[in-house]
Amino acid sequence: MKFPNMLQSQFVGATTPRASLCAPFSSKLAKLALAAACTVALPVLAADPPKGNIEAAKAKVSMCIGCHGIPGYRASFPEIYSVPKIAGQNEKYIQASLRAYATGERTHPTMDAISKSLSEQDMADLAAYYSNLK
Ligand code: HEC
Repeated sequence: MKFPNMLQSQFVGATTPRASLCAPFSSKLAKLALAAACTVALPVLAADPPKGNIEAAKAKVSMCIGCHGIPGYRASFPEIYSVPKIAGQNEKYIQASLRAYATGERTHPTMDAISKSLSEQDMADLAAYYSNLK
């Protein structure tokens, strides 16, 4: 597709934030070109590693508490496993462990299943939450 000259000059050296760049055009072609440019640009932004949110994690820990215990405790269920204490662990370590189970790099029957159900954001939130528990 050939960009109209006026549009191209808007892109070259554009330093304005993307939102305002996406707004002010009216011709149909310009809109199409911008829609394409904006959709292509978005996944690049989303590729930043998610930041953990402790508050958001509070709605997600219910699926961990049964085994990893009430906050700060070492749990004894299920009895046949020794369940590692994750409260107070290093944030990056928790996140990396969850990803390792999710990718199959590390395996454990229950943790595999659980980590595969988590999004990257869930893992980041849970890591932030547990690393901040004393
Ligand atoms: C059914 C019991 C169970 C549930 C539920 C569970 N875990 Fe686990 N978890 C375990 C066991 C057992 C291990 C140790 C597995 C191993 O040896 O690799 C473990 C290991 C881990 C580890 C690695 C710890 C280390 O020291 O390497 C992390 C991190 C973890 N779990 C986080 C979570 C989070 C977060 C949740 C909730 C989303 C959760 N687990 C839910 C049983 C459970």
